[in-house]
Parts: sequence; C-alpha cells; structure tokens
Amino acid sequence: MTAETKTETTEFVSWFRSVAPYINAFRHKVFVIGFSGEMITDSNFVHFIHDINLLASLGVRLVLVHGARPQIRFRLDESQLETPTVMGMRVTDPAALQCVKESVGRVHHEIAALLSMGLPNSPMANAAIRVTSGNFVTACPQGVIQGVDLMHTGKVRKINAPAIHSRLEQGDVVLISPLGYSPTGEIFNLTMENVATETAIALHAEKLIFLLDAPMPSVNESIAFPRELTVAESKALLKNNKTKPAIPDNTRLSLQSATRACELGVARAHLINRQTDGVILQELFTHNGIGTMITQETLQALRKAKIEDVGGILQLIEPLEAEGILVRRGRELLEIEIDRFAVFEHDGVILGCAALYPFPEENACELACLAIHPDYRDHGHGNRLLKYIENQATTMGIHKLFVLTTRATHWFIEHGFSEVTPAELPKTKKGLYNYQRRSKVLVKQL
Ligand SMILES: CC(C)(COP(=O)(O)OP(=O)(O)OC[C@H]1O[C@@H](n2cnc3c(N)ncnc32)[C@H](O)[C@@H]1OP(=O)(O)O)[C@@H](O)C(=O)NCCC(=O)NCCS
Repeated sequence: MTAETKTETTEFVSWFRSVAPYINAFRHKVFVIGFSGEMITDSNFVHFIHDINLLASLGVRLVLVHGARPQIRFRLDESQLETPTVMGMRVTDPAALQCVKESVGRVHHEIAALLSMGLPNSPMANAAIRVTSGNFVTACPQGVIQGVDLMHTGKVRKINAPAIHSRLEQGDVVLISPLGYSPTGEIFNLTMENVATETAIALHAEKLIFLLDAPMPSVNESIAFPRELTVAESKALLKNNKTKPAIPDNTRLSLQSATRACELGVARAHLINRQTDGVILQELFTHNGIGTMITQETLQALRKAKIEDVGGILQLIEPLEAEGILVRRGRELLEIEIDRFAVFEHDGVILGCAALYPFPEENACELACLAIHPDYRDHGHGNRLLKYIENQATTMGIHKLFVLTTRATHWFIEHGFSEVTPAELPKTKKGLYNYQRRSKVLVKQL
C-alpha cells in the first residue's frame, strides 16, 4: 500500500466513524423534506434523489413534500389563463384548477419514477424504495380575502398522521403533493410550505427540512445569516427585516414555516440552499452543517452529566490523557463518578466537561478534569463551565475550590485562583498527590 493510499484509507475510516453517531441517532426518526418545483427541473435533482435513497436505506422515515409552482405557471401561460393574486396567493378558479391538477400530477409521477430507479452501477442499485401517496391532506378554502374569493386556493385543515405513520413503519417513503381534498369532495391548491409544515407538526417529526432556491441573505455587510436560530431569534429576525438584500419571499415563507413548526413541537428545522450537490448529507452528517437550523431552545446546554454521556466525555478527555494533560480515568471509574461531572453540550455532542469532588471535612471541593474540545476553545466555554462548578460548590455550602493542573496554571490564575503548596491540600488528597507529576495546586475562595 502506498503512503497516499494509506492516508486515504485512514481518512475514509475516520470519516466513516465520524458519521456513525448520526446514523444511530437518525434511525427510525421522521424527517419531512419540502422542496420546490424549481428544484425538480434542476440537473442536480437526480443526485438529491440518490441522497434520499441513501437516507431511506439508513432507516430514516421520510416524507417528501414537493411544490409545482413553475410547472403550474407554465401550464397557465400555455392555456393563456389570467389568474389574479391576493396577498401573494394565486386565485385558483375552476379552469386554473385543471392546470394545477395536470401540473402537480405530472411532477408527482416524475418524482415517483425517479425514486423507483434501480439501475446497476448507480447509487440506486438494489434500492427498491417503495413510494406511497394518498389522501393524507384534508384542506379547506382560504376563503374571501380583500373582497376576492380565492376559490380553490386552500390551506391545510388536517393531516392524517396515523395513516402516514403506518406507511412509514412499513418502510415506505411517503410522497405528498401540494393538493388537498375536502370532505365535500373538492380539490384545493396548497403551498408546499404549508403542507410540509403541518405534516411535520402532525407527525411530531424530528426534522423539517426546506431546500431553498437561493442562499440566505447576509444580516449586514459583515455578518452572515446565522447558522442557528432559536424560535425567538428567528421571529425577531423576521420582524426586524433588516437583512441585505431583503429575505426573498419564498425564503421568508420557509423561515416562517420552519419557525412555526419548531414552536409547535418539531425538534429541529433546517433551511438549506439546494444549489450544491449533496447539501442534505452535508447538513445532516457534519457537526456544523451548511444551512440554518432552527430550534425551540438554544442548542447549547451546561448541565449535570448522565450515564449516556460517558462515551462523549471519554472521546473528549482521552487525547488529553494521552498527552499527560489530564490524569487517566478509565470508563469504569467514569461510570462510577458520573454524578460528579458537568458537561457542556452542543446539539447532542459533548464539547466540554468538568468534575467536582467534595472534601466535606475541610469544607473544600476539588475541580477536576476541566476540558473543552480544542476546536471550541477561546469562546468563553471554559469560563462558563468553571462558573457552573463554582455555583454547584457554593450551593453545597462550600467556599473553597482547589484544582491541580500541569498546563493551565495561568488560566486558573486569571480566573481568581492563587498558587499554594501541596501541603495545603485536604488530608485525603495530600496522601494521593503525585510528586512525579508535579501538578501545580491552585485555590480559589468562593
Ligand atoms: C483550560 C481550558 C479548559 C480553557 O477553555 P476555554 O474554553 O478555551 O477557555 P475560555 O474561552 O473561557 O478562556 C480563553 C482564554 O484563556 C486563555 N487560555 C486558554 N488556555 C490557556 C492555558 N492553558 N493557559 C493560559 N491561558 C489559557 C486563552 O488564550 C484565552 O485568552 P483571551 O481571552 O485573552 O483570548 C482549555 O484550554 C482546555 O481544555 N485545556 C486542556 C485541559 C486542561 O488543561 N484542563 C485544566 C486541568 S483540570
């Protein structure tokens, strides 16, 4: 094996291992993916279908909601039908509805055909995806707005979530069009965003993903559009409306829809620019993603560690232990002492940890194993973890915190600690002091 092939193999193995946690986390989770009619006409669309196939084979339960705006527009122009719009909504009269049914039907079948491909030597080989559609969406008319009857332009009234869930449980990919049916037997023209959002809410989906036709605008000359937004931040951004250029109408609709979905229980919503090949895989299987993610609450949390965090903590501290920066702790010890740990988590990944060991006889506590992932240092996370630990100590009624460190002496001094001799350690700790390691002992009065 040449050096080059060896590096490639090592990179491949480490990349494959890095995506494994996502594969485990996504299995049997429901993702609703909304994409526009524009995307279907794109040469990249077949690659998107391959990525959908890949997600389905990894056990993700997929609901695809497609749009058909350009196809409908084209068909209306072809039929020379004038259709007025009211507040951005097109009036769908009976003649226009005919065009809508034809266009949506054609697009729907084209997508189903692409999903059915199974050519050898292609990513779809042996895929055998089963695509299901049905009357899952009950709709009602938008009604009369500003004195204009929107006729067959409607909105979602109800989603038949049990029916969709049962198809997903059988391993089918559910494909939904932007048409809804009323109990009176009428057909309504809906927006893809409305259908995808209400479907995600009704299914309590793990993710609602919108593929956008344009990149997100910058907030201003020097600040890019945020990569993460809470529901409150997203609402503020929509209200302020200060981005440059202004948020395009379709993107605004997707952002509003994604925000509503998260407010009503969808765990995460993602807005990603569809122009790059493989966007959906990049967004889902890399830590930073490439789009904008909306969540109900902030993704970052400082909290007490749980037994499930042991693996994440070990991944974080093992390289530091190997370098001799932290004292070695095995998995077993960590499992026993997990209640002593606090973690800094971001989107389910442990990026920092610290432990607190009380010495009640001396009315003191030891701060140990403080570590922040190297890629996330210098952002104040170490400081926040320290504050969290100090707070824990004071709520226990303890006002003396000490730490042993070999490499971060100055960091602790800058955070109010002073150097003392090992003789000042609590009795039981003094007996364990490793004179070969020669750690510095620092103390802070809380
Ligand atoms: C020490 C540590 C926890 C700090 O985490 P962090 O998230 O980067 O800390 P903060 O962002 O709150 O502080 C960053 C500041 O501290 C400084 N700093 C970081 N590590 C330092 C160190 N070892 N010595 C001195 N200063 C340090 C940075 O330069 C930065 O300074 P600035 O604000 O002037 O730019 C982190 O560097 C780490 O995990 N180190 C390895 C483990 C370790 O030594 N733990 C201590 C033993 S228990």
